[in-house]
Amino acid sequence: MATVSITVNGNKVSRDVEPRTLLVQYLREHLGLTGTHVGCDTSQCGACVVHIDGASVKSCTTLAMQCEGASVTTIEGLAKDGKLHPMQEAFREHHALQCGFCTPGMIMSAVDLVEKNPGLTEDDIRHGLEGNLCRCTGYHNIVKAIAAASKTMGR
Ligand code: FES
Ligand code: FES
Repeated sequence: MATVSITVNGNKVSRDVEPRTLLVQYLREHLGLTGTHVGCDTSQCGACVVHIDGASVKSCTTLAMQCEGASVTTIEGLAKDGKLHPMQEAFREHHALQCGFCTPGMIMSAVDLVEKNPGLTEDDIRHGLEGNLCRCTGYHNIVKAIAAASKTMGR
């Protein structure tokens, strides 16, 4: 066992875990943060995306031990003071989901994409989402939502 201490959604937590524990297992199984999903377990679908020190990362292929001392944000940490993050609000407004399975990872990827790339075009958004798969929506409303959020984020 190894003790892994991470700041998750602003709270410092420590858990004793097996060294092979993945970050997504640490979040879901040890902290009960089940908003981060596991779709493929092989770094393809993006359902497991979280932010590590502000950068989007696939938590199914990151060891919890690699995050020792880091700051991790999950979908549960995006809303502030009971108010949805502008990206969450845009997904709601533009009906950018159907089953919702891909949505947490899609939103976490989209937030990072917009924060790092002001003035995104539709092509940029589609290219930026290539690591996130959605089998329901056809992506059109997701792209619309991200374009809308790119105008409201940071206001
Ligand atoms: S579960 Fe991590 S990329 Fe699919
Ligand atoms: S909304 Fe169902 S997988 Fe994206």
